Amino acid sequence: MNNITRDSFTSRFGIIAAAAGSAIGLGNIWKFPYITGKYGGAAFIILYLICIFLIGFPVMLSEFIIGRRTQKNAIGAFKSLSPDKPWYLTGWAGVAAAFFILSFYSVVGGWTIDYVIRSLTGNFINKTPTEIVNTFESFISNPVMPVIWQIIFMILTCLIVLGGIKNGIEKYSKIMMPILFILIIILDIRALTLDNSIQGISFIFRPDWSLLTPEAVLVALGHAFFSLSLGMGTMTTYASYINKKENLTQTAFRVTILDTVIALLAGIAIFPAVFAFEIEPTSGPGLVFVTLPGIFQMLPLGMFFSTLFFVLLAVAALTSAISLLEVPVAFFVEEKGMERRVAATLTTLIITIIGIFASLSQGILSNVKIFNLNIFNFLEFTSSNILLPSGGLLITLFVGWYLNRRDVEEELSNNGRIRISSLSFFLLAVKIVSPALIIIVFLNGLGIIR
Ligand code: PHE
Repeated sequence: MNNITRDSFTSRFGIIAAAAGSAIGLGNIWKFPYITGKYGGAAFIILYLICIFLIGFPVMLSEFIIGRRTQKNAIGAFKSLSPDKPWYLTGWAGVAAAFFILSFYSVVGGWTIDYVIRSLTGNFINKTPTEIVNTFESFISNPVMPVIWQIIFMILTCLIVLGGIKNGIEKYSKIMMPILFILIIILDIRALTLDNSIQGISFIFRPDWSLLTPEAVLVALGHAFFSLSLGMGTMTTYASYINKKENLTQTAFRVTILDTVIALLAGIAIFPAVFAFEIEPTSGPGLVFVTLPGIFQMLPLGMFFSTLFFVLLAVAALTSAISLLEVPVAFFVEEKGMERRVAATLTTLIITIIGIFASLSQGILSNVKIFNLNIFNFLEFTSSNILLPSGGLLITLFVGWYLNRRDVEEELSNNGRIRISSLSFFLLAVKIVSPALIIIVFLNGLGIIR
């Protein structure tokens, strides 16, 4: 496909909505609360914020530079910037990561749709906390329903991606992201007016450093990558559709801030409920699926709020899933000459099949272990904590040490049309600070240095 016919974003709001739509997802609303609960609350959050700003932001900007400079997909971009070196393998790792992540992501995406229906039909009304926990556990381990929802979730994702950038991804992100923002604010107000909400708030704002283990540090780093959709070419691919007039630094900064704010707002919506409902904050992936229906069913208009919450989660999941699917689709279209329709359908099919195994690993396949993890956890752990940070490491090294300084400057300044204020900070971050931190956290998390 040549550049004349290449699809692209049409407005600044569209770019932010799509990129923030990719970043803001299950990572913020489902995963962030439960890992924060598991790894100790406020101390974990502080560490996570450090990773976001010192590592995440420079990596995002690097991906933006690579993508917009070349206007190519994750693999093609590296090939065109470095035709005779194997840097394109970074792109390949990214495409692989997209398959890994979307396979388990779509399973949780499916759960959210089921919970929308359950909330709507009043399924949680008059249930005790234990019954609500059991409902979740028996639902996710059921071999049929979660798989059906997961397939539906993947079909929705595929349909949006089939529409392309302007008429698919941008169009739907522009509608869904403002809805998401309004929904989360409503839920925050509801949570803050619960009795004893202060206990939940202090859990996320008062640090207890003794809980921080090397594993927690690795998870904070992995989650910074996961939450900002970094290290695998999503932002590279999206940036390839950004026009040459946009200010990349500003866009990356806005997306980073939006993503962080939504994660914190999600924490504020969830932890007061966790404590009010006397659920252990360490209770894992079921946290939001158990606490929120539980707390809402005790309140006036509870099922209304519960429905809102799961709609929010489903919408957030969908705008991220489309960005995951777009990475392999753009690759197949541009590098392999496939039609968009064929590429999207084929990728969806493969991901759905892997995803079915991930879903079944919550029940009948729970005994199948890879490195001691079930299929779902294996896909989740390796992608967030290994594939994304190592992809991020390569991307910073590429931009910091390999890429022409002129390429970097021209992209950041739009060929000299805008002033770049912090080039030396950025270069310091991508050359030294981010790579060094990623390596230290890695070695520490894997137990190689202590
Ligand atoms: N950032 C998304 C979330 O937080 C997940 C994601 C990861 C999307 C990697 C694209 C690429 O839910």
